[in-house]
Amino acid sequence: MSGGSEVGGKRPNLRSRAWFDDPSNPDMTALYVERYLNFGISLGELQSGRPIIGIAQTGSDLTPCNRHHLELAKRVREGIRDAGGIALEFPTHPIQETGKRPTAGLDRNLQYLSLVEAIFGYPMDGVVMTIGCDKTTPACLMAAATVNIPAIALSVGPMLNGWFKGERTGSGTIVWKAREMLAAGEIDYKGFIELVASSAPSTGWCNTMGTATTMNSLTEALGMSLPGSAAIPAPYRDRAECAYHTGVQIVEMVHADRKPSDVLTRQAFLNAIRVNSAIGGSTNAPIHLNAIARHIGVELSLADWEEHGADIPLVVNLQPAGKYLGEDFYRAGGVPAVMGQLLRAGLIDGSALTVNGKTVEENIGTATAQDADVIFPLDAPLKQAAGLTVLSGNLFDNAVMKLSVLSDEFRNRYLSDPENPDAFEGTAIVFDGPEDYHRRIDDPALGADDHSILIMRGAGPVGYPGGAEVVNMRPPVALIRAGVHALPCLGDGRQSGTSGSPSILNAAPEAAVGGGLALVKTGDRIRIDLKNRTADMLVDAAELAARRAALAIDYVPEAQTPWQEIHRDLVGQFDGGAVFENAVKYQRIAQKYGVPRDSH
Ligand code: FES
Ligand code: MG
Repeated sequence: MSGGSEVGGKRPNLRSRAWFDDPSNPDMTALYVERYLNFGISLGELQSGRPIIGIAQTGSDLTPCNRHHLELAKRVREGIRDAGGIALEFPTHPIQETGKRPTAGLDRNLQYLSLVEAIFGYPMDGVVMTIGCDKTTPACLMAAATVNIPAIALSVGPMLNGWFKGERTGSGTIVWKAREMLAAGEIDYKGFIELVASSAPSTGWCNTMGTATTMNSLTEALGMSLPGSAAIPAPYRDRAECAYHTGVQIVEMVHADRKPSDVLTRQAFLNAIRVNSAIGGSTNAPIHLNAIARHIGVELSLADWEEHGADIPLVVNLQPAGKYLGEDFYRAGGVPAVMGQLLRAGLIDGSALTVNGKTVEENIGTATAQDADVIFPLDAPLKQAAGLTVLSGNLFDNAVMKLSVLSDEFRNRYLSDPENPDAFEGTAIVFDGPEDYHRRIDDPALGADDHSILIMRGAGPVGYPGGAEVVNMRPPVALIRAGVHALPCLGDGRQSGTSGSPSILNAAPEAAVGGGLALVKTGDRIRIDLKNRTADMLVDAAELAARRAALAIDYVPEAQTPWQEIHRDLVGQFDGGAVFENAVKYQRIAQKYGVPRDSH
């Protein structure tokens, strides 16, 4: 059978030709070509000069949040083929946020590293990154940044809304409520599981404004996915249509040579920071966006989150900061309806380029909200100044706090110093890891009262490798029964984006590497001053020096796998994105090196 009729216009600059069509290197071309023929692609196709497009498949039975990508990839392939490209789908290391022990955070850099090797080392002219569950999105974008061939992200979409007895039940967020109900004896074990499971009625990612909705929204805000694509629920027909258009778009991007470095500019990151505030995005966002920025070589720090994001109002009324879920967000207009408002208020830069070759302003300049109870007007928002604030002091160099989840109850109870109404003091109760917390939280000997501050340490990127989402801690049952539903929490771990807890988290440096949290003791007075953005233990310098001299960190268990040890040796702290510090210098490697050496 001849493939000659499939020959299109040859494009000499495609990197896949170094594998499939290099007359100066017949030995290797034959070796490369023969194996990719073996499942039925014809020689005519491989040597047609058509772009070869990778589809990085993050969905599997191990990653249910992204599993629908197995279906969507079929539509991506059809889009690629209709636009004149050839699709090669390949698996990635699985990451699922709740299923992976000890943490999914541990695997973000593993998926990143393996994606860099796959994209750089195989015949690809462009790549579709299938994103969704929390860590899959940053891992994919970090890899696209490092290699820097044309790349577009396809979100899998949120699950449909969860319902229980006529009320919306949202992923993760319902757990915090169910936990309190279980503790208060309102439901039993079976009722607990039933209530939580009601929040997951279909394929897709967490339907709350957790880390998945956040990171997929920010991918769209960055310009790395098609406009209007992030919020489409996974089972909707619009999602499959979007997959098709994504396939068409990547082929166009290869012809235009539009790369991540053209899209992931500093202005794009600043836009994403502002969008994160407006949507009430997760506290995991700064970790991941800072990581992506470092891999593309854009200056971005926590100071940018404070400077550009803290004052932006919250307009999206999604759980945990508000009441609605993913389907509502989509019907109300999704990310374009948020960005359109910010753009017209001069709060984002409309000239930023996106994957479809148009600017943000061209894409969404006229987008408006379709439901003002789901996406509020910017001039009458849900909350003013709803971004992240960055604190520092003798407990840590920096830690973040999400202002949008501070409840009125919390403000009235804790932010009550008459001299400085934005400050509060409390007494530390220190837990050395979540096991210690679970063992002791309801022990009357803990002596907790409504001015306790719960501190979690040993939960950072080194200590609990990858960083565990354990800083949001419920108060002792006795306090819940007395009407205290939240205590201030502080720690070197992370917090699920689905939690509405007013926590101070992502503290860097973490206790495991000798940060200030390693020195704090139960009973210390802690002062948090939100106005001046400080957090300190009120312990004098001589005492702190004595504690440091006697420091013994006995709550960080040994590594259990080779990867845990390698990760611990290489990973940086949360403020720098928890990237592998020695990976950052490898930038734009497709431009720097073209293709790697021949395999034989
Ligand atoms: Fe996968 Fe939330 S656990 S998206
Ligand atoms: Mg999570």
